[in-house]
Amino acid sequence: MKDILDFLNHGIDDLHPYEPGRSIDEVIEEYKPEKVVKLASNENPLGPSSKALNAIKNFSEDLHLYPDGDASRLKRLISKTENIDTNQIIIGNGSNEILELSARAFLNKDSSAIMSKHAFAVYKIVTQACGSEIIEVPMLNWTHDLARFPESIKDNTRVCFVANPNNPTGTYNSHNDFLDLMKKIPSSVLVILDLAYFEYVDAEDYVKPNELLKEFKNLLITKTFSKIQGLASLRIGYGIGSEKLISTLNKIRQPFNTNTLAQDAAFHAMSDREHISKSIELNLSERDRVNDELTNIGFECIPSQGNFISFKGNFDAQLIFVELMKMGVIVRPISLYEMPEFLRVTIGTQEENNYFLNKIKSLVNE
Ligand SMILES: Cc1ncc(COP(=O)(O)O)c(C=O)c1O
Repeated sequence: MKDILDFLNHGIDDLHPYEPGRSIDEVIEEYKPEKVVKLASNENPLGPSSKALNAIKNFSEDLHLYPDGDASRLKRLISKTENIDTNQIIIGNGSNEILELSARAFLNKDSSAIMSKHAFAVYKIVTQACGSEIIEVPMLNWTHDLARFPESIKDNTRVCFVANPNNPTGTYNSHNDFLDLMKKIPSSVLVILDLAYFEYVDAEDYVKPNELLKEFKNLLITKTFSKIQGLASLRIGYGIGSEKLISTLNKIRQPFNTNTLAQDAAFHAMSDREHISKSIELNLSERDRVNDELTNIGFECIPSQGNFISFKGNFDAQLIFVELMKMGVIVRPISLYEMPEFLRVTIGTQEENNYFLNKIKSLVNE
């Protein structure tokens, strides 16, 4: 007799689930290092804004009430900050939820989605979970080769994912390159421009989202409160697109997908421009320094516009990953991204970065 698992939807059985970075607790339990520095998941080493922290510390009375399903106060602030209408915004349980909702709305076993090789892992997962075909375009110099996307699109392609900057490579695409893609891609394809790390970019020719949103109805921009806003554990992010697209995605989202604490913290985090500027400054100076130091050791770094750097050297990445954990440093091996010779390190505080650099130097000099 057949069992329920014989009737799984197409694509799910051989789906490789997302592998999160190792947690501090796991590493303490397994290796018992004297201290742990986690530079594995591209979080803000300064944590969230103190204003966000205060808001949730003082919150306790209304836990029995459902949250505002429309997150209207947060949406009003995003609308003002982004200079777009509130009905162009959808709030998600992390930006991952927006990616998933888009896949569920437009992908099925008769369609395909296009993305770059070595792009953020969730694109493949949500595509495969819908039973859709994955079309992967090779990278050029570890960068999304957007010029090659239009020729790889099929008649049944419905979604195109672009991470800018991309995780784990840290590379970015310019406004003109992205605009060219939008002009060439059929309007029957939803293009998702994932800007999870946009605050960290200092390239002058970077994408201008509002110009693109004005021109293209098949564009969805996603942003997150998990990275520079330091609220990864609260799970909150958002999408911006045309009013019609957003109301369609809202139809299939859970009514209370984001909780009151997350909405409140996100509101205060977004208002705290000083904390955001401080976080950007720290990342810019430390990103350059870590890049230079790793290069001086003899490693090859992929130039990054994010808050992390992927690098390789004359080493076995998996082995160095484990040795670093024994010394209390958690980085990220990225073989899941078909980059088995690379490690990815998040830019931490100056002290955390020094700790990591000293440990990795000691390992390669052994
Ligand atoms: C490129 C990219 N997009 C989206 C996300 C998901 O972020 P969130 O925490 O908002 O779901 C990540 C998280 O690592 C990411 O690297």
